[in-house]
Amino acid sequence: MLIDSFGRQITYLRISVTDRCNFRCVYCMPPTGVPYLPHERIMRYEEIAAFVEVAARQGIRKVRITGGEPLVRADLYRLVEMIANIEGIEDISLTTNGILLEKYARPLAAAGLKRVNISLDTLNAEKFARITRGGELEKVLRGIAAAEEVGLMPIKINTVIMRGINDDELIELAKLTLSHAWNLRFIELMPIENQQPWGEGFPPPEDIFMPVSEVMALLKPLGLHPVNLPGDSGPALPYRLEGGIGTVGFISPLTEQHFCQRCNRIRLTADGNLRPCLMSDLEIPVLPALRSGQPVLPLLLEAVNRKPAAHRLTNHITPNGRCMIQIGG
Ligand code: 5AD
Ligand code: SF4
Repeated sequence: MLIDSFGRQITYLRISVTDRCNFRCVYCMPPTGVPYLPHERIMRYEEIAAFVEVAARQGIRKVRITGGEPLVRADLYRLVEMIANIEGIEDISLTTNGILLEKYARPLAAAGLKRVNISLDTLNAEKFARITRGGELEKVLRGIAAAEEVGLMPIKINTVIMRGINDDELIELAKLTLSHAWNLRFIELMPIENQQPWGEGFPPPEDIFMPVSEVMALLKPLGLHPVNLPGDSGPALPYRLEGGIGTVGFISPLTEQHFCQRCNRIRLTADGNLRPCLMSDLEIPVLPALRSGQPVLPLLLEAVNRKPAAHRLTNHITPNGRCMIQIGG
């Protein structure tokens, strides 16, 4: 078992498979973009799988594949298949912008993928294109439908809360759960390398943050009933709207005191660094060891041991080594 120095059991590994993306979301990367990693510095599927085997023997049970946008990496189903076949891995899921799901949902499900999380911040096509700097809403909606059709369920929808950008739509977004069995989650905007102006038509970054408590107050008139999702140990506290068939959840890394106490995860970046905390620049490289045949177990144990108690965003200490596209959320 992997237990960190604060008694948290680590059972969940998030793996970023690429730092590239076919969107350029305003909260995820600066307007100028970020230089891509050269191919030789990206972990090969065989290297990722070798690491997951070690991690699974230590008690990692759940794997999520992220990016950048994971589906821009060639033949991702191959990695899914390799991980799904590793003893001990009980759950394998994918976080995606959804734009390529229409094409890949079926082969991914066949390879053993269980579920997907899809980002959706607005239902307005023009606004969607502005937030994602060019993304096509209709295609994402078709991607979500494709995922449902092949049984990649429950569908989780991630909505980043942005005052002055999508706060006028939060009720409408929540109401999607009246007609769809989706688990929609409202996420507080995290200040990770996105503090510079987002571009024309966007409010100043410091005005955009909006706490989950305000969203809950907005939704209160729709009836918010707490629910217990079986087996769901994620960071979102789920509720059902009156008459809803899906759920709405709230992820509050910034405003909830005990958020970090429930953290059960570590991350592996596309270039093979273990990142014990999303919000800390501390990283432990594993790729050199994997490539030279050295054991990686001591590195995994070190990452778990050095996992910080909590982020320090509220003290205005923000990570600046990577932006979100280079971590995968
Ligand atoms: N703050 C909060 N959520 C973010 N995401 C990306 N960047 C941020 C940020 N700065 C979300 C995306 C995606 C998930 C991986 O993380 O919307 O759904
Ligand atoms: Fe791409 Fe997701 Fe980042 Fe948007 S949030 S740029 S879709 S990785």
